[in-house]
Parts: sequence; structure tokens; C-alpha cells
Amino acid sequence: MPRFAPTGEVILHIVFAASECVPFAKTGGLADVVGALPPELVKLGHQVTVYLPLYAGVRRQLAGEVTYAIRSITIPFQYYNRLAGIVDGGRRGGVQYYFVDCPELFERPGLYGTAVGDYPDNAERFALYCRAVLEASKQLGVPEVFHVHDWQAALIPVYLRTTLKSDPVLSHAAVVLTIHNAAYQGAFPPATTEQLLFPWEIFTLDKVEQYDRFNFLKGGLVYSDILTTVSRKYAEEMLTAEFGEGLDGVLRGRAQDLRGILNGVDYAQWNPATDANLAAHYTPENLAGKRECRADLLSAFGLELVEDATPVIGIVSRFAVQKGFDLLEEIAGRLSEMEVAVVALGSGEPVYEKFFRDWAFWNKSNVAVRIGYNDALAHKIEAGADLFLMPSLYEPCGLNQIYSLKYGTVPVVRATGGLDDTIEEWNPRQGSGTGFKFTDVSGEALLAAIERALAAFEDQAGWKRLMLNGMARNYSWEQPAREYAVVYEEAASRLA
Ligand code: ADP
Ligand code: GLC
Repeated sequence: MPRFAPTGEVILHIVFAASECVPFAKTGGLADVVGALPPELVKLGHQVTVYLPLYAGVRRQLAGEVTYAIRSITIPFQYYNRLAGIVDGGRRGGVQYYFVDCPELFERPGLYGTAVGDYPDNAERFALYCRAVLEASKQLGVPEVFHVHDWQAALIPVYLRTTLKSDPVLSHAAVVLTIHNAAYQGAFPPATTEQLLFPWEIFTLDKVEQYDRFNFLKGGLVYSDILTTVSRKYAEEMLTAEFGEGLDGVLRGRAQDLRGILNGVDYAQWNPATDANLAAHYTPENLAGKRECRADLLSAFGLELVEDATPVIGIVSRFAVQKGFDLLEEIAGRLSEMEVAVVALGSGEPVYEKFFRDWAFWNKSNVAVRIGYNDALAHKIEAGADLFLMPSLYEPCGLNQIYSLKYGTVPVVRATGGLDDTIEEWNPRQGSGTGFKFTDVSGEALLAAIERALAAFEDQAGWKRLMLNGMARNYSWEQPAREYAVVYEEAASRLA
């Protein structure tokens, strides 16, 4: 039965299932989204519950305060049972948090693996997580809609519509799946079907099979009621062979049910007027503090000798093929000869870590890199840099360019996915636009965009206009949360 708010709007209970969520566990933008969207939905009157795996880092944050909402759930596998508890993480911002506790699977140094590679039992880890969310919901509240994110949560609809399909309390729940990145699919050997106790009839090309692998994301695409992704442009791109990562055929088959909703950002965390990580604060009305942030940033990277008039290019990124650093490598030698300084923060694939380390080693006066994950430093880069570089080969949404706009740090991006949707090319004659874009997958095209940016930087008045244009853009979660609410209502009404 639908419930109604005093204003007449339908109140829905939404369960979020995802492998990352700020402030508990983060490797990328997924965590920012799952951290920020639920409280915004609560503001609209909805009830939201978030389930996360209880990783080692989450246990540290709980600091001994472990209260079980459910002490023990039995999750059967082919040859044995595993037991999971559900820890009550309490309420924050009106959102209820629960953690799936299974220490032998989640109490590890990384979320998905180590520097050597992915954990070999990831299929079992995230299958257990998905089953636990479903079983826990039966006791703690079955929602109108499960909103599941990426491959790690994509088995939820597969269980719901196959092995659990006749469950009287679960069968009315709808599922919305958000694809944050189609390249990460969770593909495992065929025997995973038996290991997870699925019937072999789902291991076919129209269901979970993909190139002779059991593919979690494909299962999610097939069995969810509505699919969303994180920008309009990527929603179009993913239907093509170039961006679909082999899933474009399935996605085209479901194009009617696919929506592109651009991510918002959390301005409580990312705002130069209030950001606690900065040496000074600033606003569009008074930009003076940005100079101090720049000096503080350069000193954090040991680049104190960089001249005042030299533009600083910032990078904060996972170091993965997706992020386009091969293009940067093509032009790195020429770029560091120019009148610029570069500060980069990131970690990931060893080839890119090596590229940045070597580049900095040979250009100590104007290129510096910090390998690692460091939230405070990420904020300092957003504030202290003049330009922010994202030459991504593809980018479902991208959050850093949106943070950059707010910090008056002008983005230079490749025109793909959410980067294309959020950044408008600077037009010096009209004084319109927010950044610089290039399209060709080539170092030359990237260099040309950087050169346009550096030329614009020379004109102080124009540059200020460009910064202020970006700072005036509003990408808060208010509007996207409303769009998600419409999607939830549509999904719920299909099952009603
Ligand atoms: P993706 O999710 O593909 O990595 P996004 O742009 O959506 O890309 O989000 C990346 C998020 O992760 C941003 O909040 C960014 O600040 C953060 N981030 C990425 N790498 C690092 C790092 N090395 N240190 C701190 N934060 C990082
Ligand atoms: C993925 C994408 C990124 C997006 C983020 C949050 O990690 O790579 O573009 O911003 O998810 O949706």
C-alpha cells in the first residue's frame, strides 16, 4: 500500500545496496554518490536504508560500538554455509545504515583486492553481500524499491527474479540498477553458477552469460526493472560498441528502460567557502583566499619556487586506462617545458604510477606527484590549482570537474560522458563557457586544449569571468534526487 506525505506525495522506502559509501568506504565517485543521494531523498520525504559490507575500515570507524540488528543469517553456497550478521550503523541525516558482517570475507586491507590483483573470491564476497541484503530486508523492512549500484550489488535482482521469485514478501519489490561504469562487470568462471546455487538455465547468453563467463552486471541489466546511468551522454554512448564494453547489445535491448541522470555533488563537503581542508576560504565575491590556497598547495608538493604568474594544473584521479593518461604521456615532455606547474595525486595501475613518478623525477622544478589516496590533499588541489585536467577516454559522469567548477579551477576535459554534459567550451568573445574540451583521442588534441587554456589565462579579466561562470553553476543533488524519485515511482508502479 502506498503511503502519502501530508503534501500528497507518495512516500517510498528505498534500500540502497552498494559496495562504497562516504564516509565509510571509498575508492571513487560511487562512494560520493551513495553518500549524498540518500539524505537528499530523505529531504523529499522518502525513507532510505543503506547496506554496506562491513570492511576492516568500517569496523575501525565503529570503534568497538558494534550492535547487531540481526545476529546471524545463514547463506548457503554449493558445499557449505556462511554466516553473516547485520550490524546497526544507526541513523545519519535521516538515513538508516546497516553493515553486512562476515569477517572472513570483508575484514581485509582493500575493498576489492590488493596491488597484486582482485581478491580471487570476489564472486562469493559480493554474492554473500547481495543475499544478506535480501534476507536482512525480510526482517528489517522490505522496500518498495531496491536501488542497486554496479556489479557488486547486481545479483540482487538476479536472486529476486530467479531463486527467490516466489518469496511472498520480496516479490513485490522493484529494482533500479545504476551503472556507474560499464567496464567493471564482475565476470567469473561458469562454475560460479553452481557455487552460488543458481540453476544452470540462467547461464545463457540472454541472461548472465557473457563470453563464457558468469557476468554479475549483465545479470543486473537483464533482471532489473529500470536501469539508470550517471549522465545523459553516457546513457547514449553505452549503447554503442565503442563504449558498451560488450554489453551494448543487452543495453540496446533495454534502451526503453534506460535513463541518464547526471550526478549531483555534495556542496557540504566541496565548497571553498567552508572547506575545512583549506589554508583559506574564498567565494565568488572575494577570491583572495584562492592565492593562499595556491601557495599552500605548492608548498605541500615542494614546488615553492614556482613563479606567481605560472598557471598550476591539478590532477586527482584513480590511475586507470579510463582516465586517459596515455594521452598525457604523449605530450608530457612538451608540457613540462612550457610555463606551467603540474601537481598530481592518484594511485592505481603501476604503469601510470611509474609514468607520473618518472615525469616528476625529471622535472623537479615544475612537476610533482603524490602516489596514494589522500582526501585532504584532493581538496587542496581543487582549491589551489588554476586548471584541472581530465583527459578521460570515457567518463560516465566524473565528479572532480564539477568540484573544480565550484572552486574556480578551470577544467580541461575530453568531451565524453558526463565531462561533455557538464563543461561548456569557453568563448572569449561572448565571455560564456566554463572550461576547455577536446574530442580526438590524441595527445595533440589534448595539448591544443591546454594551449587554449593557457592563452586564456594570460587575459586576467577574461580568466576571472571564466572562473566565475563555473562557480555560478549549481550541481547540487536537489534536482537529480527528484529525477530518481520519479524513476522509483515508475519502477514501483510496474510491480504494484
Ligand atoms: P571515478 O569514480 O571514476 O574514480 P569520479 O570523478 O566520479 O571518478 O570520482 C572520483 C572521486 O574519488 C572524487 O571524489 C575524487 O576526489 C576521489 N579521488 C580519486 N582519487 C583520489 C586520491 N588519490 N585521493 C583522494 N581522492 C581521490
Ligand atoms: C564511476 C565513474 C565516474 C562516476 C562515478 C560516480 O566510478 O567512473 O565517472 O562519476 O562512477 O557515478
